[in-house]
Amino acid sequence: MNDDPNRARPGLAQEVLARDRRHVWHPFTQHGTEGDPVVITRAKDASLFDAQGNEILDLVSSWWTCTHGHAHPKINAALARQAGLFEHVMFAGFTHQPAADLATALAALLPGDLGRVFFSDDGSTSVEVALKIAYQYWINVGEPRRRILVAFDGGYHGDTLGAMSLGRGSQMFSPFRELMCKVCVLPLPATFEGDDAADEREAGALSAFEALLADRGQSIAALIIEPLLQGAGGMRLCRPSFLKRLVELARGAGILVIFDEVATGFGRTGTLFAMEQAGVVPDLVCLSKGLTAGYMPLAVTVAREAVFEAFLGETFDRALPHGHSFTANPLACAVALASLALFEEEKTLERIARINRRHRAMLAELAAREDVARPRLLGSILAIDVKAAGGYQSAESRRLRDFYLAHGLNIRPLGPTLYLMPPYCITEEELTRAYAGLIEGLDTLGS
Ligand SMILES: Cc1ncc(COP(=O)(O)O)c(C=O)c1O
Repeated sequence: MNDDPNRARPGLAQEVLARDRRHVWHPFTQHGTEGDPVVITRAKDASLFDAQGNEILDLVSSWWTCTHGHAHPKINAALARQAGLFEHVMFAGFTHQPAADLATALAALLPGDLGRVFFSDDGSTSVEVALKIAYQYWINVGEPRRRILVAFDGGYHGDTLGAMSLGRGSQMFSPFRELMCKVCVLPLPATFEGDDAADEREAGALSAFEALLADRGQSIAALIIEPLLQGAGGMRLCRPSFLKRLVELARGAGILVIFDEVATGFGRTGTLFAMEQAGVVPDLVCLSKGLTAGYMPLAVTVAREAVFEAFLGETFDRALPHGHSFTANPLACAVALASLALFEEEKTLERIARINRRHRAMLAELAAREDVARPRLLGSILAIDVKAAGGYQSAESRRLRDFYLAHGLNIRPLGPTLYLMPPYCITEEELTRAYAGLIEGLDTLGS
C-alpha cells in the first residue's frame, strides 16, 4: 500500500482534475451529477494506484479488459520491442509479422475452421464488422432478402449504430431508436445456481426462436449471442445445452451464427473461449478486450473459410468495403501475441480454476443471505443480484460503488447486479480482501 512514487508530488491529482474538468468528456457519465474521477498514476498486477498512492483492487479488470494483470513485464517488453521496429503501417497493400502471426495463432486456438481474421479496433467495431459480413454474405451468395438480425433481450454488443441496434432492449439507447436497424429480439433463458425453472425457460426461448424461423426464417441473415454470459446486461448466464440447441436450430434454417466473445473470450468463463463449453462453432466470432490483455485497443472478427470465400471474385463489389486507420496495429498485435504466450507460460487456465474454486466457496455464503438473489458463477466471474438495489445508476447501486471505491475496491454494480471479474493474477490474500469488502458493502446497504 501507499508506495506510489507520485505521492511525492503534491498537487498532481488537483492539477489533472482541473484540466479534466475543463476539457474531458467521459463515457457513460452524467457530468452534471457525477463527482470527480479517480486520478490513476500507476498500476501493477491486480491493483491500480491513485495519485496519493492509495491502492484500488481492480475487481472488474478495468471494464473486463485486464487479464494477466496490469503492467506485466513480458507484455511491456513485447510492446517496447515492437515500438523499436515500427509502430504502424496501413493495412491495405501492406502486412507485417505481428498481424500474420497473431492471425495464425488465433486460428490455431479457435475451434473448427474459424480461421480468417479481420482486424479492427474495439468490441463495437468487431461486432459492426460481423454484421456487415453477414449482411453482404447473403448479397454475395444471391439471397439478398436475408436482412433481419436476431439478438437476445438484455444483450449488449457495443455503441456503434449496428451494435447498438442489437442491444435495443436497453433503455440506454433510447435517444437513437430511429437510427437503428431491424432486429428481432428473443428472450434469454437466464439461469443461476439453484434455478429449478431453467428447463422450462429454455424451452420457451427455443420455441420462440422456432416460431420466428417458421414465420420469417427465409428473411433472417444472422443470429448473434454472447455465448454463456451476457455481460453488460447483468452477468446473466445461459447453459451450454441451450447454446448448442440454438445453434442447431439456426443451422437447420441456414442462418449465419455470430458469437460475440468480446467479454467472454480469453479465459473469463473458465475455458479460453466460452463456445468450447457448448461444443459448437459459429460462422463468425468477435473478440476484443482480453485479446491484448487490456493493453491496447484491438479487435478481430474471425470467419469460417466458407464465409470468406463468398467474398472472393473478379470485381471489387464482392469484397468487404470496410477498414480502419489503425487496422491490425503492429504494437497491439505484438502485445496480443505476448498475451497468448502467457496463457501457456503462466498456466493461466489453472489460475482461473483456482479463482473459480475460491468464488464457489464464497457463493455459498452469499446465497445464504436474505438480501441476495440469483447467485451465479462462471469461470472467473462471480455475480449476485442485490434485492434492495434498483436499476442502472440507481441511488443504491451508486452508494455501493462509492462505498467500495472508498474501501479500495473497484467494484461497479450493473444495476442490481454485483459482480467480481478480477485479473487472473489476483492473489489469495487479495481475493480474501475482495470478499470481505463485498460483504461489508452489502451489510452497509442493509443498515
Ligand atoms: C459482449 C460485448 N460486445 C461488445 C462490446 C463493446 O466493446 P467496446 O466497448 O470495446 O466497443 C462489449 C463491451 O462491454 C461487450 O461486453
